[in-house]
Amino acid sequence: MKLPWAEPFKIKMVETIQQSTAEERAKWIEDADFNLFNLKSEQVYIDLLTDSGTGAMSDKQWAEIMTGDESYAGSRSFEKLKSTIQDITGFEYVLPTHQGRAAENVLFSALIKEEMIVPGNSHFDTTKGHIEFRKARAIDCTIEEAFDIENPHPFKGNIDLNKLEEVYKTYPKEKIPFCLITVTCNTSGGQPVSMENIKAVRELSNKYDIPVYFDAARYAENAWFIKQREESCKSMSIPEIVKEMFSYGDGMTMSSKKDGLVNIGGFVALNNEEVFTVASNFTIIFEGFITYGGMAGRDMAALAQGLRESSNEQYLESRVGQVEYLGNKLMEFGIPIQKPIGGHAIFVDAKKFLPNVPKEEYIAQTLGIELYKEAGVRGVEIGTLLADRDPDTRENRYPKLELLRLAIPRRTYTNNHMDYIAVALKNVYDRRDEITSGYNIKWEAPIMRHFTVKLEKS
Ligand code: F0G
Repeated sequence: MKLPWAEPFKIKMVETIQQSTAEERAKWIEDADFNLFNLKSEQVYIDLLTDSGTGAMSDKQWAEIMTGDESYAGSRSFEKLKSTIQDITGFEYVLPTHQGRAAENVLFSALIKEEMIVPGNSHFDTTKGHIEFRKARAIDCTIEEAFDIENPHPFKGNIDLNKLEEVYKTYPKEKIPFCLITVTCNTSGGQPVSMENIKAVRELSNKYDIPVYFDAARYAENAWFIKQREESCKSMSIPEIVKEMFSYGDGMTMSSKKDGLVNIGGFVALNNEEVFTVASNFTIIFEGFITYGGMAGRDMAALAQGLRESSNEQYLESRVGQVEYLGNKLMEFGIPIQKPIGGHAIFVDAKKFLPNVPKEEYIAQTLGIELYKEAGVRGVEIGTLLADRDPDTRENRYPKLELLRLAIPRRTYTNNHMDYIAVALKNVYDRRDEITSGYNIKWEAPIMRHFTVKLEKS
């Protein structure tokens, strides 16, 4: 019999998490104005709000914390981080930043000007924010299959080359600072981009003389999917796949809070010396001197170690395997989720799950609240609240999909927790016919309303 996968680690330290009663949770969520972001962490039993900065570090990473070098300039820990990033990605220049969006701020300050166009697969919210903040425009060129959650396409993060070429033909190259490939594509459900697609994007971009950058927050998980699903890469090691992926790019921004396996941190890595020189100045203004960029020396040392660990095959098998384990359980219960299962999260189709809740009453948020009340499990709404209002008409924008994202932190929960989450959601599913109303907005901020919105029962 084939042995099943198991984690390549054992547990050295544990953190108590709080169980609570249904009555307590009903009160807490009401006190939080039915906004899951307003809950205190002690009010949550299993926290699936994000996989960002919520993972567990290894003993070796903690050892790095103790020996980190806190020198303002020329820190030994920076040198260690730089040589690790050079070795893993092949990019020559490295600028540390305090997290992923800070890396976007530094790189985009150097490259994006007003009225420019940045095509790519679906850009993450902060990425789009940093593009639009500069009065430039992000264009989503993701393949159409990505928007059909039943479609089993193995690489739903892929860029549609026809859509991309259309952008390249419509705008002069001076208006397109780069094409951005997000691996894995968070917005389309933690879905991977194939090596073939990355290579084809590079070739097409070469034809139009346009650079290619990566938003690489979950690059190791992307490499794992390539190894599993792409025939031509089956015999390659994960580090080899990662190297080849990045060889098709000019640089990357990184949120180290994901595949860096640390709680805070980020960086820019790139090959172009001129861009590096300009970006270095922005690092100094926004982040700190170029050998620490908003990170403590010890955190850079722990990151260097984390980057090595996240390319370990057995780790990736258990990481992606755990997400798949939860997804399979939910599918066994007949719960509608995005397929194939992504690398870092399960996306539950709230419209199918709660057909009786009107779209004006925030279906995915309603599901998130029900799951919290049922079992103390916190997910996050990826639906109408997040989509916000049309800036001109101020009407709600109703996205194609109303999703509840259950993001799984790395190396943090056990499969017993996954079983608990699955049964919790099944219990809500079993009483879905009784859930016929959702919530109204009591107060909202003019932008990014989902973080602070106050709701009341409809
Ligand atoms: N790019 C991607 C693809 C992301 O998923 C995120 C963050 C960022 C950039 C920004 O990085 O948070 O370090 O500033 N995603 C988190 C999430 C917040 O929950 O999906 P950051």
